[in-house]
Amino acid sequence: MTADRDNDETGYLRSYGRRRGKKLRPGRERLMEEMLPRISIRPGTPIADHFAADIQALWLEIGFGGGEHLAAQAKAHPHVGLVGCEPFLNGVAKLLRLLDTNGSQNVRVHADDARDIFPDVPEGALDRVFILFPDPWPKAKHHKRRLIQTALLDDMARMLKDGGEFRFASDHMGYVRWVLSFAVKHPDFEWLAEGPSDWRDPPEDWIETRYQQKGLAGDTIVHLRFRRKPRPY
Ligand SMILES: C[S@@+](CC[C@H](N)C(=O)[O-])C[C@H]1O[C@@H](n2cnc3c(N)ncnc32)[C@H](O)[C@@H]1O
Repeated sequence: MTADRDNDETGYLRSYGRRRGKKLRPGRERLMEEMLPRISIRPGTPIADHFAADIQALWLEIGFGGGEHLAAQAKAHPHVGLVGCEPFLNGVAKLLRLLDTNGSQNVRVHADDARDIFPDVPEGALDRVFILFPDPWPKAKHHKRRLIQTALLDDMARMLKDGGEFRFASDHMGYVRWVLSFAVKHPDFEWLAEGPSDWRDPPEDWIETRYQQKGLAGDTIVHLRFRRKPRPY
């Protein structure tokens, strides 16, 4: 897989930084070789077919980083099938270590750009999508690389079922304003906020992400929840 997606056949811009960090320890290298193929999304297979029959809902996390949030949600919700996408391979290896330890069987992984798997997600298949602390791409000339754009909202609107939720968190106020500017005027989403506590306080079932745990998030974190409006048909 190319490190830079800008000129490949997918036609979308790279929204992430590096794909590799320092050399993996042998244990994590082994998990990448043995465990990752077992839980990887197979292209061309409808997303639900990757999960056991007792799975009652499907959640997608785009950009899971080191996987702390994904692994904890999987443990807390054994009847939810969780799909995690992350191109940073050292982060993927961390997730595998967490899953190996907590024993969760309800996680599937795409170790690359989330947008690759969208064609395998049927309309209305997802109950929830998380994008937590996405790369802010702060320079104006890089804003086009921000993951959340109208096109991504359109994709999420298609994949989410009626009443499904898109959850976002960021400490970058420029990105928060950016997301709101696209989302509040999107015909298929409704912002679930009535007052400041709705964006200042985390959702009740919030699990800290690695980005937060490492203290990378600034003092002010904004939480945005959007509900997929019912389809008119
Ligand atoms: C700032 S990190 C936050 C990671 C994690 N959500 C957390 O809060 O700890 C943003 C992550 O999004 C990932 N990312 C960016 N673009 C992506 C894409 N198109 N598909 C999947 N992941 C992506 C990056 O590789 C990076 O790990």
